[in-house]
Amino acid sequence: MTSWYNRPAARDWTCPSSRSEVRAFHQSLPGYSPTPLIPVPELAAELGVGRVLVKDESSRLGLPAFKVLGASWACRQVLHRHPGAMLVTATDGNHGRAVARMAAHFGVTATVFVPEVMLPDTAARIADEGAKVVWADGGYDDAVRCAAAFAADQPGRALVQDTAWDGYEQVPAWIVQGYQTLLDEVEDQLGGAPDLVAVPVGVGSLAEAVVRHYRRPAAARPSVLSVEPDTAACVLASLTAARPTTVATAATVMAGLNCGTMSRSAWPVLRAGCDAAVAVTDQDALRAVADLRRFGISSGPSGAATVAGARAALAEPERRAGLGLDEDAVVVLLSTEGHTR
Ligand SMILES: Cc1ncc(COP(=O)(O)O)c(C=O)c1O
Repeated sequence: MTSWYNRPAARDWTCPSSRSEVRAFHQSLPGYSPTPLIPVPELAAELGVGRVLVKDESSRLGLPAFKVLGASWACRQVLHRHPGAMLVTATDGNHGRAVARMAAHFGVTATVFVPEVMLPDTAARIADEGAKVVWADGGYDDAVRCAAAFAADQPGRALVQDTAWDGYEQVPAWIVQGYQTLLDEVEDQLGGAPDLVAVPVGVGSLAEAVVRHYRRPAAARPSVLSVEPDTAACVLASLTAARPTTVATAATVMAGLNCGTMSRSAWPVLRAGCDAAVAVTDQDALRAVADLRRFGISSGPSGAATVAGARAALAEPERRAGLGLDEDAVVVLLSTEGHTR
């Protein structure tokens, strides 16, 4: 399988802007503050660019990953329409824990389906938030199917899933809106747009938010680089094949990115506006975790994957040229979770 995709024309695509009151909502939550955007001159020197900044999501609203930005806004919207509903979801880890946390915040119950490959500690952290954890046979995609069937089985249950399929688009759209806060913060912190943003990708909802943000009318148009595990590179496969493509997955240290099927809503947005995609190995992600730790940044393999992705993209002159980057380029790497073990 190819491990690189580049279509520079995607930078010129314009997406209709969709503003919402999501940032004000996040600001109203207890413990909200913007996460740091940390300059890492050592990485800038290594990559041969002007500046590298790491958006450090190791502590977001009291949880160790960015996912609560989407889960909180979606739970709020769902409960506004279905007061008192039981919240149901499936997860690789971070999203389910965030939904469980928000269920407790809003005073409702949560049932979280997890794949059989999930580490017991990860499942325990979800249960510790007060949610009921249900093990599903198979991988993440199977857990999503179980959660959807369970939610549909009885009234009073509401599915809060961070991936879309035909007929299930509204909640994932709220989740994507929730991620907007992270990008608004980057814009404030940087005082403008970077030249490259690297995004870790599971089903592609975060990448959808990034593309929507940086392709809105009148926005500067940085390159958007999707980074996936080489064992679960469904976005790379889909972009390369020019149609949504499911891939078989295997265990990876990048647990949050271990998804074989893209979000249906993310697909048209990434197809039109995501100009680059790369797949990285577990070994490269673990090296990135260790490097970020040396630079004082707590990151897990799913978050540090963007360091590995930027390395893979910038080490080769042809790839650099395709991304339109010179030695003054400003690169933002989204590190979406804190250290995981
Ligand atoms: C830490 C981390 N980073 C990135 C992602 C990828 O987000 P998405 O599934 O929206 O592509 C996830 C998803 O769970 C995650 O947990």
